Amino acid sequence: MPAKIHVQDLWKEYERTEQLDSAALRGVNLEIQGGEIIALYGQSGSGKTTLLNIIAGLDRPTRGRVSVDGKDLGSLGERGKTDLRRRRLGFVFQFFNLLPTLTAFENVYLSLELAGRSDREPAFAALASVGLRTKANRYPHELSGGEQQRVAIARAMVKEPAIILADEPTGNLDLRTGEQVLDLLTGRCREHGTTLLMATHSPLTCRVSDRILRMVDGIVVEEPATGEMPS
Ligand SMILES: Nc1ncnc2c1ncn2[C@@H]1O[C@H](COP(=O)(O)OP(=O)(O)OP(=O)(O)O)[C@@H](O)[C@H]1O
Ligand SMILES: [Mg+2]
Repeated sequence: MPAKIHVQDLWKEYERTEQLDSAALRGVNLEIQGGEIIALYGQSGSGKTTLLNIIAGLDRPTRGRVSVDGKDLGSLGERGKTDLRRRRLGFVFQFFNLLPTLTAFENVYLSLELAGRSDREPAFAALASVGLRTKANRYPHELSGGEQQRVAIARAMVKEPAIILADEPTGNLDLRTGEQVLDLLTGRCREHGTTLLMATHSPLTCRVSDRILRMVDGIVVEEPATGEMPS
């Protein structure tokens, strides 16, 4: 299977200085295959969000190459990158990022519409699959944090993306709810063969992943395989 995400010698400097060692990313290399579930584990400020934003095509690297789902981001225009995001990528964020003026159903359906689909049934099915069919007409403020994150998972999964990028998906939930959300997210991805890249501080997230990529000061270091707890 071709690598779904391929990153080669990636650097990101937010501020232009002569010293490259102050850069947020300092020569990241990684290769993620289709269907892998990966924890990108590292301390605050190590560069996780920066890396996810560049992989999503939302920010540009200072240098280096990124290919996502077989497409070289450097040679895609803004329109190409938007299209890739809408059709092939799903996102889950720490603060859920649901649109407050749309119901749970509308939040999920919007993602389907942006991917060029107009059938409503998959949006209901996606909500049902996260146990929220009966709450489809609720607005985000009428849902608990765990429920909002389940809507966000339904929204990410509904278009059957090749890849889901998740930035601290359990960071704003209590331990038990976080565990449930994580089981749901990884379970659905395993079922569909979706590649999942999760940025996290949490050892729990590492435990449910196939591989741990540790980020230290803008560099990615591979950790031992499955089941190993990072120290
Ligand atoms: N827009 C920005 N402008 C300038 N510096 C930035 C910007 N965004 C991030 N940085 C810096 O880049 C480095 C990496 O930040 P990043 O947000 O990628 O870390 P992170 O690993 O996601 O941290 P956290 O776990 O706290 O979310 C930090 O030193 C941060 O201060
Ligand atoms: Mg971050």
